[in-house]
Amino acid sequence: MVLQAIKYKRGELEILDQLRLPHSEVYDRITSSKDAWHAIKEMRTRGAPAIAIVAALALAVELDTNALSSISEEVEVFIVEKLDYLSTSRPTAVNLADAATKLKIIVAAAARKSGSTGEDVHEAYVQAAEKMLVDDVSDNEAIGKHGAEWIASNTTSGRVGDKVSVLTHCNTGSLATAGYGTALGVIRALHSKDSLHHAFCTETRPYNQGSRLTAFELVHDGIPATLITDSMAAALLKLRGEEERIAAIVTGADRVAANGDTANKIGTYSLAILAKYHGVKFLIAAPRTTIDLNTATGDNIVIEERPGKELTLMRGPRYDGVSVDRSAIETVCIAADGIGVWNPAFDVTPACLIDGIITEVGVAEKDEDGKFNLRALFNVGG
Ligand code: MRU
Repeated sequence: MVLQAIKYKRGELEILDQLRLPHSEVYDRITSSKDAWHAIKEMRTRGAPAIAIVAALALAVELDTNALSSISEEVEVFIVEKLDYLSTSRPTAVNLADAATKLKIIVAAAARKSGSTGEDVHEAYVQAAEKMLVDDVSDNEAIGKHGAEWIASNTTSGRVGDKVSVLTHCNTGSLATAGYGTALGVIRALHSKDSLHHAFCTETRPYNQGSRLTAFELVHDGIPATLITDSMAAALLKLRGEEERIAAIVTGADRVAANGDTANKIGTYSLAILAKYHGVKFLIAAPRTTIDLNTATGDNIVIEERPGKELTLMRGPRYDGVSVDRSAIETVCIAADGIGVWNPAFDVTPACLIDGIITEVGVAEKDEDGKFNLRALFNVGG
């Protein structure tokens, strides 16, 4: 069975509620941009590409299931207002803003066509949103292929024979995208070529995307994998000799600035520092929709801060000392009352710590001056 975070057919959209994973698989119906805004804000759906696609398709469903004006300009204004609203749901991932910009250009062109009707603009929007869903899966498969090839030919440590072991962070798989995944897509590609020795995933505090979601996907796909806490990464990278474990760390991205600085899930920056210290390759896997050429450096990226209760409260199934009852979900407090909390959802890894940015058109590497030329990725076919 294929894992699907997003189920869509014309006029109908459902998202897998990721707050309930891995304990239960429940799909929520999304019928409007307002439903999508809340699902994104509450992180029932999450991951940079998935956020953009859910937002785009939610509006498609809203257009399909409501009476619209027959005047093309009025439908265009309606769509633009809804896209602007959706873009306010979460600030750091650029994919949603990128999708909104592209969709606005498409509806503007449809509205300006002579004799166009409201229905024409509506149809142009829906087709473009549906294409984003399809393209994301094929982009991820290409990312997986390029990443697996790069790791196989650019790493010497962390190998058992021809097989490599990799560490990943957060969740970047089928649950964070339209399917297959970015960094987890690279792990899937290595596994499918029989080139993966072992995958390690971090727990990814405070929201536990690693232990709840990535671990769920790895088990689902039968990939040999081990979970570690975020604080165990240095000890894992330090293993040497026969125990040596890691060839590369591969993570996703929420926004890659023009110079290669990369915002991703909090904890990514520390992993990149550890990788540099231990001589392990550090890679970012992301579609070009995550690259923001309008943002010069990581200093210009807005980092979302989330409620403190994500650190102080923990949700999970009841455990009676013998067995876990996944039907009884409880919330427990795991911090001292009165403590202040800082909860940035993302951090920025400077380009100097990144060895390669894996995209659907190939792997960007730094030139001899140590600089990425990400603009070049947009001048190739695909
Ligand atoms: O806060 P989240 O769960 O939406 O954060 C997700 C991440 O940081 C992912 O690593 C990133 O979006 C890449 S998803 C393919």
